Amino acid sequence: MLRRPRRNRKSQVIRDLVEETTLSKNDLIFPLFMVDGQNIRQEVPSMPGIFRLSTDQLLKEIEECMKLGIRTFCLFPSFEEKFKDKYAGVSHDPSNFYLKAISQIKKELPEACIMTDVAMDPYSSDGHDGIVENGQILNDETLEVLGKMSLAQAEAGADILGPSDMMDGRVEYIRDLLDGHGFTNVSIMSYTAKYASAFYGPFRDALDSAPKSGDKKTYQMNPANIKEALIEAELDELEGADMLMVKPALSYLDVIREVSLATNLPIAAYNVSGEYAMVKAADQRGWLDGEKIMLEILLSIRRAGAKIILTYFAKEFAKLNL
Ligand code: PBG
Repeated sequence: MLRRPRRNRKSQVIRDLVEETTLSKNDLIFPLFMVDGQNIRQEVPSMPGIFRLSTDQLLKEIEECMKLGIRTFCLFPSFEEKFKDKYAGVSHDPSNFYLKAISQIKKELPEACIMTDVAMDPYSSDGHDGIVENGQILNDETLEVLGKMSLAQAEAGADILGPSDMMDGRVEYIRDLLDGHGFTNVSIMSYTAKYASAFYGPFRDALDSAPKSGDKKTYQMNPANIKEALIEAELDELEGADMLMVKPALSYLDVIREVSLATNLPIAAYNVSGEYAMVKAADQRGWLDGEKIMLEILLSIRRAGAKIILTYFAKEFAKLNL
């Protein structure tokens, strides 16, 4: 035998030498859930180890993570029903607890990199990412709300905006508005290929943000499609996105690969709530080794072509100090 591939696996040193993909804390973004109030730290039932935090607790959490080497955080607010309306008005009210928390974080922990979510669902009485009229999601009217929300988040000090709404044309609309108001340095990580997925279940429980009627299939993508992801990627790049995201990650590794080959922009993948919940549930039953599975999952997402991973495992990974 001239070729013996096993020679390159004969010892840890050799295996490390020939390792093609690596995982680093620098690649990870930690999503965090927020609630209004004081001293609140409620575990999300379907996401062991993940909490809904009031701002004081959030600051502690971010500080702790920064010490562990996690430096970027994606923040999601949970609003009480009484604050929600058809037009997500509270989303751009500068006195809402989410925007106030962002300003406070940027003041007290200026090195923390803060990513926000741009979509109507946590603020909408309909639970949809856009304005609902007669059962239809209105695209262009929604852009105005997303624009106001984006400006308010930039004003509060967000470093990266994450439009997760999947309305057409929103990246360009938001980019123009930001630039027109002097926020040329605020980045956009676009949820480029966001699929209509059942893997978001635990997230919607955490935020009470499930749609009140219907589903999200007229704006989120059909899991059967991959060429459509390339159209979305082309548009988001032309519209001025700085980074492109594929979401969810695990059932869409092929999409991550294709999109990463089609653009020179950095690719992110969102290892979503349901993907986290499955691992935790199996680990708790002793059916799988949760830690090993976590590492294998994160590595596979990187290998598929994502540079950046949004993952609820971020802190747990950082604690391993690999
Ligand atoms: C809202 C939003 C969702 C997620 C991120 N932003 C849920 C949805 O679209 O219904 C899901 C994240 C996760 O499941 O971890 N626009």
